[in-house]
Amino acid sequence: MSQDQKDFSSVSPSAKSLLLMKGYTDIPYAKQTAALLPGPEVFDLNFKEKDFWFWIRVMHMESRYWSIDQLLKQTDATNILELSSGYSFRGADLCAKDERIHYIDTDLQEVIAMKQNIARELHIADDLRGRLDLLPLDVMDRTAFDSIINRFNDGPITIVNEGLLMYLDMEEKKKLCSVIHSTLKIRGGCWITADVYIKRPAEIRAVLPQSKSEANFFEQHNIEENKFDSYESAEEFFKEQGFEFVKEAVTDYRQLSVMPQLVKVLPEEVRNSKEPPPKIQATWMLRVI
Ligand SMILES: C[S@@+](CC[C@H](N)C(=O)[O-])C[C@H]1O[C@@H](n2cnc3c(N)ncnc32)[C@H](O)[C@@H]1O
Repeated sequence: MSQDQKDFSSVSPSAKSLLLMKGYTDIPYAKQTAALLPGPEVFDLNFKEKDFWFWIRVMHMESRYWSIDQLLKQTDATNILELSSGYSFRGADLCAKDERIHYIDTDLQEVIAMKQNIARELHIADDLRGRLDLLPLDVMDRTAFDSIINRFNDGPITIVNEGLLMYLDMEEKKKLCSVIHSTLKIRGGCWITADVYIKRPAEIRAVLPQSKSEANFFEQHNIEENKFDSYESAEEFFKEQGFEFVKEAVTDYRQLSVMPQLVKVLPEEVRNSKEPPPKIQATWMLRVI
């Protein structure tokens, strides 16, 4: 299948798994949305046992979510485009708080259709003071991308995403970078991406519990190969695509709503450790050079 024809919809079921994890946090709308999407999910997560590894993953999802908000707060962004948002309602939350915000929340057609239904069921529109658009967008489609951008009034644009780059191979990442670069070059603004994931050594991967379904899903989508080799090589990659690193989000783990649950199941050696959790991902603000 040529790159133009690649069907990314096989990635979409992962959005439900992430949402079901986020349903155990205080991320806005996550609990209510998760309640509307019950049933099986593709990673075969163990919601019955909820052991240490379960809560660690919830913690990662929660901290990744807030890391984007943290950097967004450090901009004066009012035109915001979220790519591959899944079942996340960050846009609704921001538009509920600030009438100046125009947030365009995008994902593939099927996800957006489901999300529009959810938004109706949750009466999201009643909360909004700003403007929220839920629109389909395949990020590999430059023409569609441009027409979404043209919906914003004049002024800089902030583009945000989490949970996308690890599904794109190198050429696809470069293509997306080129689309984002030409947009920001004309409009000004920045790109906040939570997808600076670093490959994990095989011995670490071997000890991390993962269901067969999840392992298959990761293999099918080349997740590990699609990650960066190191933070330095990620920075180099973005530089080659015309972006400079501006800043990185800093997580304050004590603030996370998942913490009380996680603390209850901490193994003794982790409880006594003075080391911070290993860093597997970073959220960066990037600007065009
Ligand atoms: C792992 S989920 C992340 C969802 C959400 N951002 C989150 O963190 O909860 C990956 C998302 O990427 C979307 N996706 C995959 N390929 C895409 C593409 N080419 N264009 C737009 N969205 C895409 C999927 O539909 C899915 O919702």
